Amino acid sequence: MYTYYKGYFESQGKEIPSIFVDFLAAGGQLVVSDPDILQELFVTKSKFVDKQHRARTIMEKLIGRSILLEKSTEEQSMKRKRLSAAFYKDKMTQILQILVKKTYDWTQKLKQDIKDGKSEKELNKLVNDHVTSCIMTSVFGETQLKQSLQFQTGNGEEELSLGICVGKLFFKMIRKQITPLRQLTQLFDRYYIGKEEQDLLKNLQNYRVFLQKLIEERKEQMKDPNHYSADFLTLLLSDDLYQQDDELMKDEISTFMLASTQTTATLITNTLYYYEQLPDVKVKLRNELSKVFTSNDQDLINIENINISVEQWIDKLGYDQLQEGWKYLYLVIQESLRIEPPVRSSVPMQLRESMNICGYNIDTETPILVHLFLLHRNPKEWQNPDKFIPERFDPQSTFYLTPDGRKRKSHSFAPFLGGRRICLGKTFAENIAKLVIPIFISELEFKFKKEEHYKRKPPKSLSTEINVPIILSAVKGK
Ligand code: HEM
Repeated sequence: MYTYYKGYFESQGKEIPSIFVDFLAAGGQLVVSDPDILQELFVTKSKFVDKQHRARTIMEKLIGRSILLEKSTEEQSMKRKRLSAAFYKDKMTQILQILVKKTYDWTQKLKQDIKDGKSEKELNKLVNDHVTSCIMTSVFGETQLKQSLQFQTGNGEEELSLGICVGKLFFKMIRKQITPLRQLTQLFDRYYIGKEEQDLLKNLQNYRVFLQKLIEERKEQMKDPNHYSADFLTLLLSDDLYQQDDELMKDEISTFMLASTQTTATLITNTLYYYEQLPDVKVKLRNELSKVFTSNDQDLINIENINISVEQWIDKLGYDQLQEGWKYLYLVIQESLRIEPPVRSSVPMQLRESMNICGYNIDTETPILVHLFLLHRNPKEWQNPDKFIPERFDPQSTFYLTPDGRKRKSHSFAPFLGGRRICLGKTFAENIAKLVIPIFISELEFKFKKEEHYKRKPPKSLSTEINVPIILSAVKGK
């Protein structure tokens, strides 16, 4: 959409306005990317702002009554509060340790692949598979069930891993939403029309049956009074709001899988891409790695010369260390979220009452879309907005300021949206990125197979697939 908007306005000799009506969606939708308007929507007038309910109807068979698309009611906020227990420090500490170990094992397996002559990989797929596996561990914990499903395709069935299935289900639901029929009327939002949508319905039902089996398995395991696990399913089964309602548990699990996998994988893929493309960023990040593993009384040790054990990683990538240390890595991750927010635009919102927002009269019928990509490229708020400059998040740097030297407006950066419906998994997602990236780059190096990838980065967000072949090699022992 960004390219379309840019082309349209540039052809008229204008910049993309920070608020306009897009009539590509039948009936029109308001596209906003102005930090002052966001301040009103997220803070000052937040109690008048809600999710537009249509998306929920369309996605119902996948995520049902889960918090993601529910209106902002007291019930939504209570469920949200209960679910946020999944990210409390004690649970996160345990999950992070498991994920550090899992990531370390992954890099060792990749090193073995290199030895076996399988050094060519595809960056997006490599990261996606690993993030999916991390998320599945965090959501389901230990399970004996095979985590794959028979998936109906146009020409038959194929066996796919659960993470891949969820991604496919999501894309097919989005496709269903943008068919011409549903652009013209809402009458068919609930229905599955034609062979392709009927296949989708069967896949959705199969997926829910599988989730039910997982719930049954965990209920059995929890009969043992010594059973303890920090995973999300166990949390739901221990919460009196959820434990009696299998359907609602399946809804929330689907949302967690959906909201976390592609988004976090996109963040990590993009960050690793910029790391390889921009030598300056690579040097600074490797210096930080070296510093982390050099004790105060030693001269700086080159990271290539140290073998780091999984225990040392667990020590350096604990919950507190991730929040307080790794300053440059933090800047790089923030800049990656700015320059290519994995979620480019929000789910449509709508006002509960017609009102004036920053000088614009907006009624209750108009869908409002927050365009995060446009927000993050606003030339009034960001110096050289198209350039990757991590220092713009460092308060000590001159890039921290706007081009005219003032402090940036607080809602000029919102990759996780904002206000009371801000992403629930924000810190978790950032933590996964902060642990996967250092382990990966200290154990492995990669080069783009195609020279063109050093010159121009293909855009990558939640809804865009890219194909970036890479050649992996081991960092140590060369
Ligand atoms: C880099 C990774 C991520 C990004 C960029 C991201 C971004 C977002 C955005 C923009 C929204 C608002 C959606 C809208 O209403 O338009 C959102 C909501 C949400 N996200 Fe994330 N997310 C990420 C990772 C995660 C993870 C790891 C989880 C869970 C484990 C998660 C769970 C949720 C949930 C439950 C909501 C709905 C919150 C509510 O409406 O109350 N997200 N996320």
